Amino acid sequence: MWQGDRPEDISKAAKALRSGALVAFPTETVYGLGADGLNENACRSIFKAKGRPADNPLILHIADFKDLHRITKKLPAQAESLAEAFWPGPLTLIMQKAKDIPKSVTAGLDTVAVRMPDHPIALALILKSGRPLAAPSANISGRPSPTSADHVLRDFGDSLGGIVDGGPCEVGLESTILDLTTSPPTILRPGAISKEALEAVIGPVAESQDTTEAAPKAPGMKYRHYAPRAPLTLLREGRLIEEICQLWEEVTSPIGFLLSDDTIGQLPPPPIDVYLFNMGPKEHPKEASQRLFSGLRYFDDIEVSAIYAESWPEKDIGQALMNRLRKAAGGSRKEDAL
Ligand code: TXA
Ligand code: MG
Repeated sequence: MWQGDRPEDISKAAKALRSGALVAFPTETVYGLGADGLNENACRSIFKAKGRPADNPLILHIADFKDLHRITKKLPAQAESLAEAFWPGPLTLIMQKAKDIPKSVTAGLDTVAVRMPDHPIALALILKSGRPLAAPSANISGRPSPTSADHVLRDFGDSLGGIVDGGPCEVGLESTILDLTTSPPTILRPGAISKEALEAVIGPVAESQDTTEAAPKAPGMKYRHYAPRAPLTLLREGRLIEEICQLWEEVTSPIGFLLSDDTIGQLPPPPIDVYLFNMGPKEHPKEASQRLFSGLRYFDDIEVSAIYAESWPEKDIGQALMNRLRKAAGGSRKEDAL
């Protein structure tokens, strides 16, 4: 484990990346599993390490806007204003790719995903390695994304070239993905940068309606994501307390609850076999977003047989939070919440 605040450790990690090794590193969203984004073999080994389907492309991480010229075929005008407004930050842009981008980065598509992470350690590592870093979330495919170095370690053990520890991630949910090859641009994955924030900069933006269809635009969205081992059920807003108490009465094996501080405050002490994970105050969906993946992993560790999650208002990052909760529940917006 390398320490991200030690320059000599960043040098070692950059050297490993340049030699083709995989290095996990922190970003403001989640930890990434990095490889030299111009090295076909290194990028290919990401898929093997994660057990990632070959048709699911990677995001290139850059530290300098100028690097976009080398990565994209033609820079759309919107890219410049979006970068100005949101980079470094949790926004990934899909654009036409330049010719020499490795096939495994784009999974054979003619477009490429790029973002500039808002994290000093990630930026230092990209600069030091001198190339764009291809990095998906540093989890085994199908597991919840990692928001701490320990999460990465739990998934990969010592099988990687190294892990750079930068403490917990501030945002906790993956970046917003915006496809600039459509007109109007389309949000393929909601994240901390909301539709409204994007529209304030570039005008109308569409939302991909169903990210679980057979051939969605962001190939990754069709796979079961953010999945805890136990089935997850979203609780209905209306009779929340009654419903939870009812579930407690019927409990026969360990079950877990992802609840706001407010809800926990209204409940009696839980019976044995009921585990509560506090997502923070209801009026702070930002805090709940930071904690979500830790909560899912916590329930994996104690091997609960079922998870129940409170719903959050779908405003700002609450939209992305509910998107991840629905995906963890294995469904799309169309399915009924319980
Ligand atoms: O916040 C993030 O974006 C994190 C950190 C590490 O930067 N990365 C991340 O990567 O979430 P990953 O691989 O877990 O998700 C990347 C998503 C996938 O759903 C993939 O299908 C989509 O981006 N994607 C990548 N290239 C694409 C392209 N050319 N067209 C459409 N979707 C693309
Ligand atoms: Mg991922």
